[in-house]
Amino acid sequence: MSRPDPILEELGLLPVWVRRAADTANVAGPVAVDSSPITSIEAQTKELEATPGSFPVSSETPINLLDWDTLKARVANCTRCRLCEKRTQTVFGTGDEKASWMLVGEAPGANEDRLGEPFVGQAGKLLDNMLRAVGRTRNNGVYIANVIKCRPPGNRDPQFDEVAQCEPYLKRQLAIIRPQLIIALGRFAAQSLLKTDASISSLRTRVHQYEGVPVIVTYHPAYLLRNLPDKAKAWADLCRAQEIYQEISR
Ligand code: URA
Repeated sequence: MSRPDPILEELGLLPVWVRRAADTANVAGPVAVDSSPITSIEAQTKELEATPGSFPVSSETPINLLDWDTLKARVANCTRCRLCEKRTQTVFGTGDEKASWMLVGEAPGANEDRLGEPFVGQAGKLLDNMLRAVGRTRNNGVYIANVIKCRPPGNRDPQFDEVAQCEPYLKRQLAIIRPQLIIALGRFAAQSLLKTDASISSLRTRVHQYEGVPVIVTYHPAYLLRNLPDKAKAWADLCRAQEIYQEISR
């Protein structure tokens, strides 16, 4: 894969960034660990297909039956947990709604809360450059969303009940977009999606499954900004994602 030098520079990987054999030798799986009781993507999709535009949507309609626009509106007005009290606005997600890759982060930070879009700060810039290195942008082939749609005050970790209340929104986004590959950005997103408490270092070297969709786990871009040497590992993760995607879309 060709990697333009400005991108390598941005990633702090110049002058030489060579993929090691060990990074690819570790691809195991599939490992199905999602024990969520919520309807599978396939089943939800069938429901969506079986429910034409005239399906009467009300404030009582379950999240797993909402279409994209009503889901967006439901998130914008959400009061399912305490995070609604301090947010400026919700952060639904951004990108290509027909994307083959879906990237899942943790929760909005201060910039995202202000602008209503995920990953808009320095970490977002790094993420965009990493995506560009594999020929994608947030508007081309990628959709980006977070597990949590409102900023936790002071950027604290989201609490268990907040995750439980917010997760159905992400599940519905995944069911509607139907990505062919999911990338979990950081420990929190990986543990939430895969329903595990395993460490990120153990998760990132394997290919997981979320309702039949392969999941690659990589470091959170904000972590990478603080831990420059791990950018090489994140690049290996992206290459692994690219390989898996090429295999499944062949
Ligand atoms: N970190 C995340 O996990 N998501 C964002 O949208 C921004 C920072």
